[in-house]
Order: sequence, then structure tokens, then C-alpha cells
Amino acid sequence: MPGNGPHIRRLFEPRSVAVIGASHTPGKIGHTILENIIEGGYGGKIYPVNPKGGEILGRPVYARAADVPTEIDLAVTCVPAKYALGAVQDLADRGTKYNLVITSGFSEVGNLEEERQLVGYATERGMRILGPNIFGMFSASASLDATFGPGGIRHGSVAIITQSGALGLAMIGKTAVENVGISAMISVGNKADIDEADLLRYLMEDANTRTILMYIEGVREGEELLEVLRETTGRKPVVAIKSGRSKRGAVAAASHTGSLAGSDAIFEAVMRQAGVLRAESVEEAFNLCKFLSETPPPAGRHAVIVTNGGGIGVLATDACEKYDVPLYDDAQTLKEIFSPVTPDFGSTKNPIDLTGQASAEHYRVALDAALTSEKIHSVLALYCETALFDAESLMKMIRRNYARYKERGKPLLFSIFGGADTETSLDTLTKERVPVFGDVYETVACMGGLYSYGRYLQQRRDATDETEIDTAAIDRIVRGARSEKRSFLLAHEGQALMDAIGIPLPRSRVVRNLDEAVQAAEQIGYPLVLKVVSRDILHKSDVGGVALDLEDREEVIDAYQAIMRNCRTRMPQARIQGIEVAEMVASGVELIAGARRDASFGPIVMFGMGGIYVEVLKDVSFRAAPLDRREVLAMMKEIRAYPLLLGVRGEERRDIESVTDAIIRLATIIRHCPEISDIEVNPLVAYEQGHGAKAVDVRVLLTETAGGSTDA
Ligand code: COA
Repeated sequence: MPGNGPHIRRLFEPRSVAVIGASHTPGKIGHTILENIIEGGYGGKIYPVNPKGGEILGRPVYARAADVPTEIDLAVTCVPAKYALGAVQDLADRGTKYNLVITSGFSEVGNLEEERQLVGYATERGMRILGPNIFGMFSASASLDATFGPGGIRHGSVAIITQSGALGLAMIGKTAVENVGISAMISVGNKADIDEADLLRYLMEDANTRTILMYIEGVREGEELLEVLRETTGRKPVVAIKSGRSKRGAVAAASHTGSLAGSDAIFEAVMRQAGVLRAESVEEAFNLCKFLSETPPPAGRHAVIVTNGGGIGVLATDACEKYDVPLYDDAQTLKEIFSPVTPDFGSTKNPIDLTGQASAEHYRVALDAALTSEKIHSVLALYCETALFDAESLMKMIRRNYARYKERGKPLLFSIFGGADTETSLDTLTKERVPVFGDVYETVACMGGLYSYGRYLQQRRDATDETEIDTAAIDRIVRGARSEKRSFLLAHEGQALMDAIGIPLPRSRVVRNLDEAVQAAEQIGYPLVLKVVSRDILHKSDVGGVALDLEDREEVIDAYQAIMRNCRTRMPQARIQGIEVAEMVASGVELIAGARRDASFGPIVMFGMGGIYVEVLKDVSFRAAPLDRREVLAMMKEIRAYPLLLGVRGEERRDIESVTDAIIRLATIIRHCPEISDIEVNPLVAYEQGHGAKAVDVRVLLTETAGGSTDA
């Protein structure tokens, strides 16, 4: 729900908390929550509510919410589902601001109506609900642990929003082990009212929060979420943990764009576009968050690896390629910086090899050299246990110097690998919040995340490219289709639409008799294509409704008669609106470009290899609209067949600019014409540089209205 930014503050910083269903029995959820609130050091007023009255944990118990003597900023409801509505009504009636509904048994098990009632009652009276079906929330700004987790949450700078309760509870334990400090932890459960977008609006402003970790399973108000995410990532990093693949889009699909969009690919693409770093595992997400909270993104592209082992140096180099960490390779400068600190038989080429004879002192001097040089922007320090140099000495050196290193403001990550002593050193350093890993890949993945966020910030431009479109003409076309109760456009309407948005088409006309066909052919010029136009014939070639490569008047006459004959014999019931006479398109690279309104993320665009193989190859990429040309280009480069556009085997480069232009136009129309739900150009034929791109076939679906038909 938009527009709740200023109010949501009291969710995180309540002045009073009431626990509805606070239990007298230790171990019950209603008891643990009250215990955590008290033990966690919450400084506001605490009101246990339970009809049995008495005292719990030394606090007087109120029989009903109505009896609580002051305003309630936040209620935590943990009564069984059958009493939940009553509890919500009591709270809403007395003007409670926020209510965390812990209770399960609502939409997650199909009880949609009960959930709607609960939220409906609350919303009408201005009470916001988090949940139901949650484990609660923690907010460091109020020292409030209103969860039934293990307690003892370490305060820090990472905010966690989780849709999975079990995973969230487990994360509380894991944050303690990994020494990750938390600024807020929110279980969103069924998201019946408050959702991620609401929470992000607060967290992006919250000074305690430096990084946000999200575990997302499904997205409802995706368009709004993306908008808020874009705003948030401009201020602080957001890491999302990958979750299951959605099949929803595929089910609803009425086009290639739809069926291909149903996959995880959209989530991946739009999250990246919004600057969200996507982690493959909880471990990776924690690493990223920890590190991103401590260190700013690198100021430039020059990363160096400092190692005492050639093997791990090579492993790290491979990983740098995978995670897009740009290794500095100016041999001369590297030599100047590192030769004073590298043994003669070592290497000053990146990776800087201090050799197996290196000592802790060698590392210290080499790291000092790297961190003080203006030419170097980030450092990966790798260590392999050797007989000459134990991990403990390295650990001591790092402990002595890390604070000083950190002041340099450059990303510095350690990877140490070896036996039991190394593991002990790793634990000690982790406890002291030194970014250290046992595995080279993890280390580089983390640095990759930092570079990726840095690049995003650098490239972030508000400008989105949009084009002029003739909305009056589009309205006319749509009205025409609607008047015939259609939810799709016929071929000639699709072409008119292309005209209105400025995507070039092969020249063509729809004719109703042979004379008109001949006349049109003479005007357009040969070679030509003839195609039947009928809302009843979906696969035109199968019924002999298409004739290609017609060279002259005679061939056009023959083809016209043949098409009419074929269609009448093979599909006698089909209503034929006419015959389309079109310019025969020269061959070029066949692409597909589409735009649609995605159920989760709103307007999206798709690009890929087109023609008849699109479903087989599935070589496509997606972006959310609006987007700029740079983003369109990135989207085009993502497909495997991109080199075909650059020209292979002596072929000319294709007109990439015209293709970009077509995609921008599709993005514009899908954003500005709510009547259009799905538009797909296949093939979009790309010619040689300077010769443009043409929409050879276009398929347009309109937003469903009662009584419309989509059987195009
Ligand atoms: N107002 C206030 N208190 C009430 C009440 C009301 N209207 N009705 C009952 N209570 C009290 C009970 O007397 C009891 O207190 P007591 O132990 O001192 O007698 C307390 O509320 C709890 O009720 P109880 O019937 O014992 O329920 P429970 O503790 O077994 O279960 C829930 C309650 C909410 C925990 C349970 O229904 C539930 O939903 N569990 C799943 C929670 C979950 O997993 N959430 C998602 C996590 S990700």
C-alpha cells in the first residue's frame, strides 16, 4: 500500500507494545514473545493481555485489549486462529496502530475469507497488519525483539526481510554464529497488508541499516516493489536470496513472451536491473551483507590478488573472471609497487606471488604497498598454510593491522586455507569482523558482488528513453477491435499499431478482390507475398493461405485464386476478411521483440532470436520497462546468439540501433497503453547496418474485459 512511509516508523519504533495471548506457560509462543521483548531490553511500555489475568514474568496482565491504559502503538497477536478476528477487532476499535499477527491458519492453508475479514476490518479503522503467519519482528532502533526466536540478537547494520518463517528463525541463530549484526528482522508471512515495499520505505531511510537482505518466494505488487527497490539500491545495497521458480506466468501465457516470461528469468533480470544483488545461498547472502555493510564499493577497476601460493592464485584468477572482478594488469606499475616487497623468485604480475617463503611480515608490507597505492582499488589477500609460516602469525598480523587497513576505505578480503590452526584463526578473525573466508571462490564471489554494486551505482542514470507514440491512433485501433468484442488485433490492425508507434513494417495492403490485389501489387512493387486475412485461420500456411516470392502480375493473379480456393476447400467455415498483399521481405537476422504486462512485475520487455525456433531455443532476455538504451543493449548482449548481430563469417554488422529503437518503442507502448496487455513482433528482421529493422509479423492482445475473446 503506497504512501505509508512516514507512519510505518511506529512499527519499528513503537512507544508501547501489547502482547495479545501472552501465555502463563513457559515455552508457549505467547510466553516466549513476551520474554524476548523484556529480555531484549525494550524501553517502552509492555502490556501482556490474557483473559485469565494475573501476572506473567512479573508484569500485570490485562484481561482485554480495551483495558490497556495507554495508546497501543504495536500489538503482537498470538491467540489461536479462531480468536484472532476478535482480537483484531478489539485492537482496531481502540485505535492500535500496528498489529503483528503471529497466528497461522489463514491464506497459507486456503482460508482466504478469514484473512480478508481480518485485514478488511483493520484497514477500515486505520490499523496496519504485518502477517498473518509470521514469527514477529526485531527492531534494533527500539531494542525490540518481538519474535519467538532464540533471543539474544546481536545489534548491527543488516536488515533482513523474510517470507519464510522457518528460514528466518534459523537465520537468527546463523547471524549469531557468523557474527552478523542485525538492525531489523521482519517476517512478512502472508503479506496480507504490509509488504516488502512498505518495509523498504522505512529501511532505506533508517540510519542503523546499511545493507538489506531479502528472502523472497513470491511477489505480488511487483511493479511497486521494483520502484521502491530502485530507490533503495541508490542509497544502500540490497541482497536477495534466490527462491523457487514461478510457473504462474507460463500458465497465463498467450504468447511466446508470456510462456518464456514465466520462468525465473524475469525475476533474475528485473532484480539485477534494479541493482539488487542476487545470492544463490543464505551463506553467500550473509557474506555479501557483512562485507557490504563494512566496506564501500571499490573506487575503480584495479583489483589485485596477493598470495603465497601459485595454485590458489590461479583459482582466484579463474574466479575473478567468473564474478567479473577486473584484475589490474599494468605490469610496469605493478612491478614498481610490488618489487620492493616481493622476493626475487616471486612474481609481481597479478596475482602478486609472495611465494611459499613469505612470512606474516611480507604480507604486511605487501598489503601496505597495495592499500597505499592510488593505482590499486581493491585487494584479495590469499593465504595457504605452509611449513614456514603458520596461520596464527598471519592472524596476529591481521588483528594488529586491520583497523588501519580499513581506514584506507578500499575493499580488502582475506581467504585463508589450511588445517586446524587455520580454522581457529578463521574463527577468531570472523568474531572480530574481519572479512575472511575459508574458500577462494567465496572470497571472490563476495568481491564480485561489491564490484557489481559499484558498477550499478556508477551507471545509474535517471534518464529512461521513451519515444513519441500516436495514442489517438492506438485508441482508434483498440476501439475498433473492442466494438467487435475481440481481445486481439487482426493483422492489418497490428500493422496500423506498428505505424502508430513508429516501428517500420514491410509495405502492405489488405484487398478484397482480385482487381484490388493487382492494383496493390503494382503500387508496392515485386517480389510480393500474399496472405489470407481471417480471424478463423490461425495457421495460414497449413491451409495453403500464403504464397511467397511472387515476381509479376500473372503470378499474383494465380496466387490470389489459389489461396481463395485452398481456404474455401480446407476451411469452408472460415470467414475471410480479405487478402494481404505485402512486400517480400529480404532475408536478415530474424529476431523476436515483445512487451507485456507481467502479473508480478508490470510492464516488461523481451528480446531474443526469433522466427520459428524461438520456443525451442528459448534464447531470450527480459527487462522491466521503462529502460534506457544502455539497458536495451545489455539485454541484447545477454542472448547467446548476440554475435550474429555483430556479423559472423564476413557478414555485415546488423542494424543494432534500429532494433534498440524498436524495443524502446515497445516498452513505451506497454507502459502507456493499459488497453494493450501483450505485443509481440516475430520476426523482427534486422538488416545490415543502416538498413533498419522491420516488423514482419505482429501479434497484439488486449487487456481482458468481460465478454472479450482471445482466440486469435
Ligand atoms: N485474548 C488474549 N489471550 C487469549 C485469548 C484472547 N482472545 N484467547 C486465548 N488467549 C490466551 C490463552 O488463554 C493462552 O494463555 P495461557 O497459556 O496462559 O492459557 C494464550 O492465549 C495462548 O492460547 P493457546 O490456546 O494456548 O494457543 P497456543 O499458544 O497453543 O497457540 C498460536 C497460539 C498463535 C501460537 C497458534 O495458534 C499458532 O498459530 N501457531 C503457529 C504460529 C506460527 O507458526 N506462525 C508462523 C511462524 S513463521
